[in-house]
Amino acid sequence: MTSRTDHDHRLSDGKRGSPDYNSRLYGCSSESSNAARIVITEDGSPTLFSTRFNQCYHNRAGAYTESRHVFFKQTGVIRALQDQLDFTVVETGFGTGFHVLMLESLRKECKSGSKVRFFSVEKYPVPQELMSALNFSDLFPQAGSLSAELLHFSGKLAESTPGQTHSGQFGNTSLHVYHGDFLDWDITRGEDADFFFHDAFSPDVNPDMWTLEVFQKLIRKASEQAVLGTYCSATRARAAMVLAGWHVARADGPPGKREMTLASVSEKKLTAYKRVNEARLKERFSASSLAAAK
Ligand SMILES: C[S@@+](CC[C@H](N)C(=O)[O-])C[C@H]1O[C@@H](n2cnc3c(N)ncnc32)[C@H](O)[C@@H]1O
Repeated sequence: MTSRTDHDHRLSDGKRGSPDYNSRLYGCSSESSNAARIVITEDGSPTLFSTRFNQCYHNRAGAYTESRHVFFKQTGVIRALQDQLDFTVVETGFGTGFHVLMLESLRKECKSGSKVRFFSVEKYPVPQELMSALNFSDLFPQAGSLSAELLHFSGKLAESTPGQTHSGQFGNTSLHVYHGDFLDWDITRGEDADFFFHDAFSPDVNPDMWTLEVFQKLIRKASEQAVLGTYCSATRARAAMVLAGWHVARADGPPGKREMTLASVSEKKLTAYKRVNEARLKERFSASSLAAAK
């Protein structure tokens, strides 16, 4: 099993020995900053390795296993599907669209009629050629034709001009993806969200997505019972959440990772989890100290 620090679970390539470990190369662009390649993770599911961020889009210990655990099980999304609730998800980092297919697969697995509004953002859309090579139809057979439809959607997103929002219907999920930077995004255009999937690259390589400003922007869109889930357990990231007004708890991580983080506006939503010491984080960190670390 991979060794980890408290926040580097999407290990940079250099930490994993051979750069071609379990990977297939795809020259998706002549610009090296846009190059990426496919990596088969330890549970057999594929993900991408980003040359721009020098990191995988999902955990090498298991992309499917991590996403299901962190974003769907621990946040309560699976329970909401089982309870036939309609809800709204906000995701930070659309990437491969993995979570839309997983959501629709789980909805079918749970025999759920839930209707879901799913809002996401992507600054660097994944080229269609690379999306196609991920073969998500093999990973999500229950999603049926939705994998092909997502491929088409991703192609349009990748070709679009930044500043546009692309919308589509995927089973019971209405999807809206903003092509651009998180800070320019008018997240749900008025609607409050019930679940937040905070799925940027880790703070060491993608620090602009873990600031106080980011978590303040997210909490302004949170419904009273909203839950935010992230694979990250870095102290600074938790401090940014606390200073933004979120209550924060530790939860068991996916295989290979001791902890993840759950946050909510409602303390009641976190009663089953061990809370972080929010007072201590407020003493230790300030808005200016967190901003200075950007
Ligand atoms: C860890 S990957 C997301 C994985 C994605 N949820 C999936 O399942 O494939 C993080 C994503 O955030 C995007 N990203 C990074 N910084 C961003 C920013 N400032 N604004 C919008 N998207 C950003 C990256 O391009 C990348 O696609």
